[in-house]
Amino acid sequence: MSFEIFLMAPPGLEPVLAEEAAEAGFPAPKVVPGGVTFEGGWPDAWRANLVLRGAGRVLARIGAFRAFHLAQLDKRSRKFDWCAVLRPDVPVRVEVATNRKSKIYHARAAQQRIETAITEELGAPIAPDAPVTIRARIDDNLVTLSVDTSGGLLHKRGAKEAVGKAPLRETMAALFLRQCGFRGTEPVLDPMCGSGTFVIEAAEMAAGLAPGRARDFAFTQLASFDAGPWEALRAALPAPRATDLRFHGSDRDAGAFAAARANAARAGVGDLVDFRKAAAGDITPPEGPPGLVIVNPPYGLRIGQRKPLFALHAALGRALRERFGGWRVGLVTTDAGLAGATELPFLPTGRPVPHGGLRVTLHRTDSLP
Ligand SMILES: C[S@@+](CC[C@H](N)C(=O)[O-])C[C@H]1O[C@@H](n2cnc3c(N)ncnc32)[C@H](O)[C@@H]1O
Repeated sequence: MSFEIFLMAPPGLEPVLAEEAAEAGFPAPKVVPGGVTFEGGWPDAWRANLVLRGAGRVLARIGAFRAFHLAQLDKRSRKFDWCAVLRPDVPVRVEVATNRKSKIYHARAAQQRIETAITEELGAPIAPDAPVTIRARIDDNLVTLSVDTSGGLLHKRGAKEAVGKAPLRETMAALFLRQCGFRGTEPVLDPMCGSGTFVIEAAEMAAGLAPGRARDFAFTQLASFDAGPWEALRAALPAPRATDLRFHGSDRDAGAFAAARANAARAGVGDLVDFRKAAAGDITPPEGPPGLVIVNPPYGLRIGQRKPLFALHAALGRALRERFGGWRVGLVTTDAGLAGATELPFLPTGRPVPHGGLRVTLHRTDSLP
C-alpha cells in the first residue's frame, strides 16, 4: 500500500530537505509549502524518521473525504477504517485545522466529531497527552486525515540533555549545514557554539550516524507497525564510519561548552569533537585541511544589546578574513546589519526562515581568499 508521506520543513528550507530526501533514496520528493512530500508505504515512513536529519516530523496521509457539514463529517469519520492505522488500546488525540474556504470552519466542533468516531467505532481512548496524533485538515470542504508517525519533534534526537541559551533546532542546523555544502567530508568550526548543535550534527554526519538511532517514534504504537521489518531496517544501518576529521566548537561561556561536551559524549561523537573556551575574535584555524566555519551569534534583540554586537561581529569577521583562507563561512542571524559588520564576502541570501518566533537568515561565503 502506498500513500503520501509529508516531511515537515521550516518554510524556506523545503528544497534543502527535498534534496536530502532524494539523496536518501526516497522517490521523487516534491517541495510543497512547509514541507516535502513523496509516495511510499509504512516502512518508508519509518525510515524517513530514522535517517532524515532535516525533517521536523513525518506525517502519513491515511485518507481523505469531502464533508460539507458536521453531520457529514460525523458519518464519514465513523465509516473511516481506523483499525487499519490505530490500535484500540493506544490513546489518541486529534488536531484539526480548517480554513475559510470550507463550510465547516469550527475546528473544535470538527475535532470533537472525529474524536467521537474514533472512540465509538474503534474504542481507542482520547487523551490530550496521547502518544498518537491524528491531524485533520479541512481545506475547501476536503477533509484530509494524517497520522503523525514521529511523536515528539524530530529535532529531539534522544541524546541531547543539556541545552544552552537560544539553541538552534538540530533539524534546522542540519539543513543549514547542508545549504553550506557540508556533506560530512571536511572539518567544521563553530566559534560561538553554545550547546554545540552545529558541531555535534556535523560530527554525526561525518560518522554516518542516523539521527533517529536513539529515540522512540509514535509509529511503533500504530496498528500498521511491524517490529520485524523495523528491526531489520535498524540493523541494516551502516556501521559508524571511521574518520580523521575533527569538529570544533568554542564559546566564551565555559558553561556552554561543558554542556556541549556532555551532549557530544551522549551522542557517541565525543572523540570527534573538540570544545574549548575562547572569544570569537581570538579563533585560529585548527590544523589540517580547511572546511566550514558555521556560527549563530547572539542577536541582540533587546534595547542596548545591538550596539556592542557590531564590535563582536567586526572582530569575528576580521579573524576569519585574516586567518581562515580556504574556509567557507555560514552565519545565521536575524540581523543583516550585524552580518554586514563582519565585512565577509557573503553571497546573495535566501528567504528568512522562521525560528522560535524570529526570522533567521543564512549568510554564506564561498572559500575565503
Ligand atoms: C545564539 S547562541 C548560539 C547557540 C548555538 N548555536 C546552539 O545551538 O546552542 C550565541 C552564543 O554565542 C556566545 N558568545 C557571545 N559572545 C561571544 C564571544 N565574544 N565569543 C565567543 N562566544 C560568544 C554565547 O555564549 C552563546 O552561547
